[in-house]
Formats: sequence, structure tokens, C-alpha cells
Amino acid sequence: MALKIERTDARTWPDEQMKELFSEGFPEFITADRLVKDYLGRVREYFADLNLMLVDESGVPVASGWGVPIRWDGTADALPSGYTQSLARAVEGREQGVEADTLVVCGAIVTPSLKGRGLAGEVITALCRAAGEAGLARVVAPVRPTTKARYPLTPIETFMAWKREDGMSLDPWIRTHQRLGAEILAAAPVSQTMTGTVAEWERWSGMAFPASGDYVIPDGLSLLTVDRSADQGVYREPNVWMRHR
Ligand SMILES: CC(C)(COP(=O)(O)OP(=O)(O)OC[C@H]1O[C@@H](n2cnc3c(N)ncnc32)[C@H](O)[C@@H]1OP(=O)(O)O)[C@@H](O)C(=O)NCCC(=O)NCCS
Repeated sequence: MALKIERTDARTWPDEQMKELFSEGFPEFITADRLVKDYLGRVREYFADLNLMLVDESGVPVASGWGVPIRWDGTADALPSGYTQSLARAVEGREQGVEADTLVVCGAIVTPSLKGRGLAGEVITALCRAAGEAGLARVVAPVRPTTKARYPLTPIETFMAWKREDGMSLDPWIRTHQRLGAEILAAAPVSQTMTGTVAEWERWSGMAFPASGDYVIPDGLSLLTVDRSADQGVYREPNVWMRHR
């Protein structure tokens, strides 16, 4: 299959093709991080050169990935707390004239029928190339480990250290990054914070939350904490910081 990289803003993609691309990827609550909503519009506007689409020979988008540029001194302590703070640092940095030196890969998705064939790796490689062209010397990613949802009770610090017999991570998405030469840098226990009313969480999860307390939710990498008296549910999404070479 001959695939081509294009900027996502190079053309308008038909709705049904985008629907297919994103049809199996993220749980509904992924968009419930209120801070992200403050930044996403400006991210799309300022950093369109770092938002790429992998397109097949008939022009259908089959994978996508995007990132933001930040300034970072290379130490784990100075990393953003995760995904959301990366967006904030990138947008505020741009508005304050801070010169960025690091690409943060923020997301990648592969169309369901073509998963497991290395397309995400192609997208990340293209992003790393775009980073080089944009003068960004380093590449990091707050990785959302896809199998963490099966271990919602396990702290991310523990989970990220789990390996298979061959020494690779137990998690397939971390493995994809490792195969491209990336290493685990640090845990990002609160990469994002999703909040909603009890009714919203019931809709997003397809569950009922009759009492206050902690719940395992479908596709949740950690637990949802429900407080019925405040009519609020809070979920903190853990990620793993990885650095590409
Ligand atoms: C995570 C994701 C981007 C990986 O893309 P990909 O191109 O399938 O990645 P790879 O081909 O490198 O495969 C990665 C692993 O997926 C596993 N895999 C194989 N077939 C799969 C399938 N049909 N569905 C899911 N995972 C599959 C494989 O185990 C592989 O790991 P291994 O080869 O070390 O065993 C893709 O699964 C996806 O779009 N997921 C939904 C969105 C998401 O979670 N994005 C990441 C957070 S931003």
C-alpha cells in the first residue's frame, strides 16, 4: 500500500471518512477535560504544521497524528504534568514569544481496519521529521497506554515498569514507541482531569452511579470518583512520558 503524508489542513476530509478513522479509538469522556477546550482551537490554528494525516492511494485518510511545540530543558522534573499542560505551555509559549525546542506528540489514531500494521509508527516518524523541519531538537510524548484500561487499580508507576519476557513493555502502544527508539522517562499520573455531572458520567460510561465512591469505568485507565452531593464525577487520566531519540 503506497501511503502519503499530508498536513491535516491541506484539504477538507469527507465527514464519513473522518468518522471511520475515529470510530474506535477513544472513550466518550476523553473530551471532558475542560482546560483542553480552552486551548484546542488555538492549538489547531498555531501548530497546523504538526498535525499530519496518512493517506492511502485513493486519498482516504488511514491514520493521523499531531503534536505541539514547547520549550523544555531535557530533565524529567521540568516536563509538563502531561497532555493538558503541554497544550497550555505550547499555546502560552507561542503567545509570549518563547522559542520552542521540543515536540510533544499528543495523539495518534489508526483506522480500525488497519491497526497492528505499523501505521502509527509511520505517523510518529513523520511527526519527528516535521519536528526537525520546525527546528525542534527533542521529541517526547505523554503516551496513553492502551491496555492500562484492563488494570485500572494499578498505579501508573507500577504499570509502566511491567515488561514481557523479551524486555519490551507489556503495553502495545508503549511498545510501538519503543520500537521507534523511545524510552520511558517518567510517569504522568495526572495527564488530564475529566470532570462532569453524575448524569454526564452515566451517559458517557453507560453505567449507573447510585452512590458516591470510586468506580471502574469502561476504557478508564484509572477510577472514576463520584460525589453525588456535589453532583460531580472526576477522573484523572494517567499517561507515561516517553522520549524519542
Ligand atoms: C494505538 C494505535 C495508534 C496503534 O497503532 P497501530 O498502527 O495499530 O500500531 P502498531 O501497528 O505498532 O501495533 C501496536 C500494537 O497493537 C497491537 N495490535 C495488533 N492488531 C491490533 C488491532 N487490530 N487492534 C488493536 N491493537 C492491535 C499489536 O499487539 C501491536 O503490538 P506488537 O506488535 O508489539 O504486539 C492504534 O491502535 C489506535 O488508533 N488506537 C486508538 C487510539 C489510541 O489509543 N491512540 C493512542 C493514544 S493517543
